[in-house]
Amino acid sequence: MSSTGSESGLAVFGDFAPDGQGAYDNAVTRFRENNIVLPTFGQLRDPSTIPGSIIDSLAEVDRNAADPRNLFRVHWFNALDGSGPLDVPDHVELPPELTGVDARIVLAFGNRFPMIAAHKVLAAYACLAARLVTGRFDPTVHRAIWPSTGNYARGGIAISKIMGCRGVAVLPEGMSRERFEWLDRWIDHPDDVIRTHGTEANVKEIYDECMRLEQDPTNVILNQFSEFSNHMGHYAVTGAALERVYQHVTADRPGTLAAFVSASGSAGTLGAGDYLKDEHGARIVAVEALEVPTMLYNGFGDHNIQGIGDKHIPLIHNVTNTDMIVGISDKSTDELDVLFNTPAGLRVLEERGIDPALAATLTHMGYSSICNTLAAVTAAKKWGLGSDDVIVSVATDGSELYDSEREKVMSSHFSGGFDDREAAQVFDEHLGDVGTTHAIEMGPVERDRVFNLGYFTWVEQLGLDIDDFEMRRDQSFWSGLRPLIGQWDEMIEEFNTATGASHG
Ligand SMILES: Cc1ncc(COP(=O)(O)O)c(C=O)c1O
Repeated sequence: MSSTGSESGLAVFGDFAPDGQGAYDNAVTRFRENNIVLPTFGQLRDPSTIPGSIIDSLAEVDRNAADPRNLFRVHWFNALDGSGPLDVPDHVELPPELTGVDARIVLAFGNRFPMIAAHKVLAAYACLAARLVTGRFDPTVHRAIWPSTGNYARGGIAISKIMGCRGVAVLPEGMSRERFEWLDRWIDHPDDVIRTHGTEANVKEIYDECMRLEQDPTNVILNQFSEFSNHMGHYAVTGAALERVYQHVTADRPGTLAAFVSASGSAGTLGAGDYLKDEHGARIVAVEALEVPTMLYNGFGDHNIQGIGDKHIPLIHNVTNTDMIVGISDKSTDELDVLFNTPAGLRVLEERGIDPALAATLTHMGYSSICNTLAAVTAAKKWGLGSDDVIVSVATDGSELYDSEREKVMSSHFSGGFDDREAAQVFDEHLGDVGTTHAIEMGPVERDRVFNLGYFTWVEQLGLDIDDFEMRRDQSFWSGLRPLIGQWDEMIEEFNTATGASHG
């Protein structure tokens, strides 16, 4: 069984679909009519290779518009106002006064991505592009179904709209108000948002809904948890962007790339860790909410770190390449979000020696970004990393997506108000002495334990063949995926030639 062929039941789209010519031809026609050019993954990992004519024409395009040219902003190198591409992705290096450790913790800002202000539009693009150019998605017939806890679905809806096809967001009803308000603005049919029961950790309910939708052959489920295009998109694009950040921060002050940290939702972003391990030997830290410690303790529950921790092991998680699992409490992320976004919080940060200009950038960190930061601190302590070590991570989205959640936290946690005293308490409790209790280094036994947990979702519940499940245990499966990006880029170029679309 080939890992890049379609003989396996895995969503690995290396070759052209045997019955895909009709879908492909229709896609070419649709893209010609709508004048849509697909960026290659090579262009997204290094936007300096995007033709100048496209960059020039982007200047007149609102970064939040459903304009095909915004596909050329689906990368890490945008400035906040949409200008760019920058030489280095926008990022922040967090000072020891904030983190309490000497290791250098650096996060790239995801709210610079277009249309949804979160990096998940990259995952959506990767999943769809791989299907389109291999004849697996017909925008004139298919509805694209985007199962998610919010940001991936928004990215998918944005891309569906650009293509002029129906996109359907499937997400839990308990996600943040900002996500639903955005969806209401972007969808054309009220039926195109399906609210499943529960909150962040209720992914089983999303799967159930997808199985129902799949009965209709015109629905194509772009399942971010099992499409290896998501993993590879991040391997190539996010991995290379973080490498650029690492090279930049070590240009004047040398340092070793010690680790990559990412909270896991679909586990797509963790693919960047595979790249950074291949290229720089970085160790990979996967993070989850302590309230739903699935990887740590096979636990279950509910939490508010929106976008991560879904009570299962995604099929695209390269578990046996993961070096540490860390659990972070949503009490910390909820309360630090208040600290970073209130006058009292900013005052206390300044008192604790944090430069106000740097503190002002912390608003670009949503809940999972704060979670990544705390996990990076945990890993630094657990591994005893020092000032020569660099840990890179991502701020998937910014706090602006959680204003309504902050109001709830303010009234439930700080009903008496949030002033300097409360801010100081929050700083001390959540940053003062980050512990290492909920961190597990992954040896062979731990890796197998977490890997095996995936069996219950993928084989038992969703009917995946056991051989397909097992083949992912070995690193040869994952290294077999690496050529996909080059293959897709060739196919994207052929596709663009066939459409004749141009932004020049
Ligand atoms: C805000 C946020 N953070 C983190 C993640 C996790 O990223 P991934 O799905 O690539 O693991 C997501 C996923 O949707 C997200 O929306």
